[in-house]
Amino acid sequence: MAVRTILKFGEETLRKRSREVEKIDERIITLVEDMKETMALANGVGLAAPQVGVLRRVVIVELEEIGVVELINPVIKKTSGHQEDIEGCLSDPGEYGITKRPMNVTVEALNIKGEKVKYSVSGLSARAVCHEVDHLDGKLFIDCVVRMLDPEELNSEGKK
Ligand code: NI
Repeated sequence: MAVRTILKFGEETLRKRSREVEKIDERIITLVEDMKETMALANGVGLAAPQVGVLRRVVIVELEEIGVVELINPVIKKTSGHQEDIEGCLSDPGEYGITKRPMNVTVEALNIKGEKVKYSVSGLSARAVCHEVDHLDGKLFIDCVVRMLDPEELNSEGKK
């Protein structure tokens, strides 16, 4: 396992569409392991492969009451409701904004063993899933921000 460098906003790679994973081979397994280590060190709740410079449809996300899961070729199947809350990104350290997201999300994907998985999540976890899946299409949270926050408005909460 190795910690990888997280690309920052402004890098062209973050605006590109990632390709589907056709086969979960050693490279993908290593990628997922490295992403988990990288996210833990950065104290984040989600990380997408393009953030470490790999344009493949792989994200990891920490889901409430479930823990950190990998989502390979994730597809959001269902959304409902809406929420506005604080969001940030490991590729944009120190900046936060209020974004508009669905309140409930159902996502389907493959896990590292190639098994189909399905998660229905709400609140913070729903935001995190949407945020990470957006990365795979070159979309960043600043694209759906309602307004950016001043540093003074931030209390202890709000890291991603
Ligand atoms: Ni992000």
